[in-house]
Amino acid sequence: MDTYKIAVIAGDGIGPEVLEEGVKVLKQAAECDGGFSFEFTYFPWGCQYYLETGKMMDEDGIETLRQFDAIFLGAVGYPGVPDHISLWDLLLNIRKSFDQYVNLRPVKLLEGAPCPLKGVDRKDVDMIFIRENSEGEYAGSGNWLYKGKPHEVVLQEGVFSRHGCERIIRYAYEFARKHGKTLTSISKGNALNYSMVFWDSIFKEVGSEYPDVTTSSYLVDAASMFMIKDPGRFQVVVTTNLFGDILTDLGAAIAGGMGLAAGANLNPEREFPSMFEPIHGSAPDIAGQGKANPLAAVWSSSQLLDFLGHEDWGAKLVDIIEDILIEKKVLTPDLGGTSTTSQVGDEVVLKLRQYTI
Ligand code: NAD
Ligand code: IPM
Ligand code: MN
Repeated sequence: MDTYKIAVIAGDGIGPEVLEEGVKVLKQAAECDGGFSFEFTYFPWGCQYYLETGKMMDEDGIETLRQFDAIFLGAVGYPGVPDHISLWDLLLNIRKSFDQYVNLRPVKLLEGAPCPLKGVDRKDVDMIFIRENSEGEYAGSGNWLYKGKPHEVVLQEGVFSRHGCERIIRYAYEFARKHGKTLTSISKGNALNYSMVFWDSIFKEVGSEYPDVTTSSYLVDAASMFMIKDPGRFQVVVTTNLFGDILTDLGAAIAGGMGLAAGANLNPEREFPSMFEPIHGSAPDIAGQGKANPLAAVWSSSQLLDFLGHEDWGAKLVDIIEDILIEKKVLTPDLGGTSTTSQVGDEVVLKLRQYTI
């Protein structure tokens, strides 16, 4: 029997609340299957840990995490610790150290999920974002000169390497080919006259190897407008780190809200562990109240199962999320219900059990 070693970093705010449900669900999927199991190891890293120790994670944290099959993460960041410290020292540190250069984020409107769009066919909200996750605007390159002086200057540089652009764009072409979908690149070559011109040229260059894949290229401003007005234009989307961050929150808004949006940070070569997380943050406004929707965490646990080769259970979990949304009996307040975080998790577990009986 395969036993998968999973590192659990529940993190801050609603992170531990939603992750507990995700873990519950993973355990149940393994029990139903009977052919594999999970071994969860919890790490107390996050903002509280920082306030106690001055560090977001242990000094040898990356070394420790390296031996796991996957990382399951809740959310990082909380008032009291500057966001650029908490995120750079934990979440971004892991993404970068483990070269998780693919950030896979489904934007799929399940039946029963609320959608603010009018006059749009619900079935047309069915995209998968492939966000570059290792460099670009998030390279962390820059400087703060003459800090505190009247003439201070801040530089924040985007770093777009041939290696980095080629590999994410190639991954996207392969993904589109494999799933028989169209591929859209989103960039901004009209204003960003080095980085995005480079990106666009690599999109074309790599595309010459994939004549069977139908492509489009959009400027990010127009793309954000079309995501609202005509989302059916987008199937597989490849874009840069920052654009991908922003557009997937927009995507969450049209596909049922932050409580349903999941993401996988992948190192496709499996040289290092990949990391699975809901894309929402720690939601300080609702933390500790049992109001957080755990379905995004459940959806990311479904991505984790996919990545481990258990696509049957991954797909089943998305079906169960959809059933829960259609039935509308057990939902958290963000989806108009009155149930608690753990009641929603229990419902997923119940449905998994019913499925295997
Ligand atoms: P957020 O995603 O935490 O919250 C935005 C809004 O969505 C809030 O109103 C919140 O209540 C709601 N929301 C989010 N998740 C929800 C859920 N599961 N169920 C119901 N409602 C939900 O974004 P923010 O407020 O901009 O950020 C809060 C903190 O989280 C900041 O420190 C930020 O840096 C951090 N952050 C972390 C991650 C991450 O760890 N992956 C992602 C985004 C933001
Ligand atoms: C996300 C988050 C992170 C990002 C932040 C917290 C650094 O917003 O995963 O979408 O920008 O990648
Ligand atoms: Mn984000």
